[in-house]
Amino acid sequence: MAAHSSALSATLLVVLLVVLLPFEVTGRRKTGRFGSWDPIIRSPVEEIEEEDGGGTRWAVLVAGSNGYGNYRHQADVCHAYQILKKGGLKDENIVVFMYDDIANSELNPRPGVIINSPKGDDVYDGVPKDYTGEHVTAANLQAVLLGDKNAVNGGSGKVINSKANDRIFLYYSDHGGPGVLGMPNMPYLYANDLIEVLKKKHSSGTYKEMVLYIEACESGSVFEGLMPEDLNVYVTTASNAEESSWGTYCPGMDPAPPSEYITCLGDLYSVAWMEDSESHNLKRETIKQQYENVRLRTSNYDTYNSGSHVMEYGNKSIKAEELYMYQGFDPATENLPPNSNDLSNMGVVNQRDAELLFLWHKYKRMEDGSENKGEVLKQISDIVMHRTHLDRSMEMIGMFLFGMDKGSSALQKVREPGLPLVDDWDCLKAMVRLFEGHCGSLTQYGMKYMRSFANICNAKVSQAAVEEAFQAACNGHDVNGLWSPLNQGGFSA
Ligand SMILES: *[C@@H]1O[C@H](CO)[C@@H](O)[C@H](O)[C@H]1NC(C)=O
Repeated sequence: MAAHSSALSATLLVVLLVVLLPFEVTGRRKTGRFGSWDPIIRSPVEEIEEEDGGGTRWAVLVAGSNGYGNYRHQADVCHAYQILKKGGLKDENIVVFMYDDIANSELNPRPGVIINSPKGDDVYDGVPKDYTGEHVTAANLQAVLLGDKNAVNGGSGKVINSKANDRIFLYYSDHGGPGVLGMPNMPYLYANDLIEVLKKKHSSGTYKEMVLYIEACESGSVFEGLMPEDLNVYVTTASNAEESSWGTYCPGMDPAPPSEYITCLGDLYSVAWMEDSESHNLKRETIKQQYENVRLRTSNYDTYNSGSHVMEYGNKSIKAEELYMYQGFDPATENLPPNSNDLSNMGVVNQRDAELLFLWHKYKRMEDGSENKGEVLKQISDIVMHRTHLDRSMEMIGMFLFGMDKGSSALQKVREPGLPLVDDWDCLKAMVRLFEGHCGSLTQYGMKYMRSFANICNAKVSQAAVEEAFQAACNGHDVNGLWSPLNQGGFSA
């Protein structure tokens, strides 16, 4: 009798669980899209809904820098992974590029942990290490996007093996310059090469639509006058073609990171989209709504002296879609609103000054008289000297090529909107190599002179004249003794 009753109650329990569990799990779905109970457990949503065309979501996440002073870029990318993961994207569909020198850096106050905001949780846990260290390259990124396993060099070999009905989300965070996105290993990713890859991917018919979020200085220049509207790709960038993008959650700012951090935790545009995604129901918020929210926050509420212009390119019809088709949907956000605007102003630092800010805080925290303190001071002064060297050299080059009074304006000239940075990209690449040969490494700071090189190409100055100018401006300088980003990975772009 006793045995019989316990078997009965066990059966009852199973029945109750089966009947009630779905309501437990989906109880929060009441206010969902159709305003009714949804009897199926879908937590999180793994595929795009049939009514939205079905298909698989893919993502490529790229942190283009290395070094503890650039903590924020890898923190951004790890955070993006956590959002997509919670949203139901599978690891096999997410490809991560990160140098992976932050979590276990001796400078990291929380070993094995990365945070992307002052009160944020660890975002490093579980991030797939597809392409790390020397394998974070422009060539690998291109191969991954094209789904070309054979062209990949090192890493996990994971590629975007997408099909005609799939959607792809690409998020990139790093330093940049006119016409280029940085990479921790040379060479940079040039705008025309990225656009070529997008065209190739499109003609291979292996995706339905693609959304790109790009944070870098002058990131608009990567698409301005270059991005076609007929590739089924929608792009937003952190800045227009001629301005910096901004680091945020930096020491000494409001809001500040925990006191033990001497580096910025995030970037303004990046945290703007991610914190927006986390505070809304992505099955109801559209890409357009996120663009508007991010635009407002990244401009620091239309105070552009400490913020930047978020730009958009490509096919803008895609904006009408809900974000979950790219970023997934976390069931825990079911009751969050589709839109809201309650975010506050953020302290920021120019991307290009963030490393000096980091070194300065590092210096200030060191014991007086410590040997390393002198070393850090020397690093700071080397960076400042190299910047001055680059500035002066460019000024002289401008004078040589365009005359005393017209030199700097000829180099800084911004083309009309709708025109690409440069007509001949091979000329631009050759110009950078030539400059670095005569004048030393361009560095993340010097990437801002990409426009000057582009203008020299656009003016069709002869190779001989350019070479003479580079020589005149830079010979006699102790170029080799100056800091090079390649042997001090910590500070390269
Ligand atoms: C833009 O995307 C929409 C929606 O997918 C599509 O109907 C339209 O043809 C696209 N426009 C171009 C120029 O490709």
